Amino acid sequence: MQRFITFEGADGCGKSTQIALTADWLRGLGHRVTTTHEPGDNSIGKEIRRLLLDPKHAPTPTCELLLFLADRAQHVTEIIRPALADSQWVLCDRFTDSTVVYQLAARKLAAISTLQPLLEFAQQATIPASTLWFDLPLETALQRIAERNGSSNESRMDRESRAFHQAVHQGFATLYRQHPQRIQRIDAHATIAQVQQQVQQTVQAMLH
Ligand code: TYD
Repeated sequence: MQRFITFEGADGCGKSTQIALTADWLRGLGHRVTTTHEPGDNSIGKEIRRLLLDPKHAPTPTCELLLFLADRAQHVTEIIRPALADSQWVLCDRFTDSTVVYQLAARKLAAISTLQPLLEFAQQATIPASTLWFDLPLETALQRIAERNGSSNESRMDRESRAFHQAVHQGFATLYRQHPQRIQRIDAHATIAQVQQQVQQTVQAMLH
């Protein structure tokens, strides 16, 4: 999946801004680009996203996992694979690594070895060529989450404990160590322009 790039990281790490800037940059170079995100960016996903993130719901960890995977199955078929088949770049805000980190590592639902076949079933052999991990110090991430507390942007995940967010941070760090070829670390504790410069350097290497 040569043109498939996923953007990963803790809540509040600045991925969305960086995806928009990266898409603009690639388009300026003459590439066609689809930007997309999980959960929710497909016809059924909008409903699934509401079920997953609205603080009024309390899914069990197993229900939560299966809803994220249901969203991904639809997303891959409806959005990601058609764009890749059309030779577009696909910049995707969160993908399977988020499930591994949030549902398996942070919720401690199950070992990845147990659920690997299910994760692969949902993503249907759609493997990112590269994954950018936006590494933000835990304290900064917690501060950004606290700032949106009570706002309409607050999601059910934002209300999780400090220990949960710490586990999310450690989960991404572990994945980064396990997949040094695929996952590139971006220092997200910098200005928007500096972060974008790191992103462009990483993506540049894929353009040839
Ligand atoms: P969102 O508002 O899209 O935030 P962000 O901009 O940080 O991506 O919320 C998505 C939330 O869902 C986020 O807290 C991470 C979580 N998530 C999972 O727990 N598992 C998953 O598989 C995915 C894709 C997201």
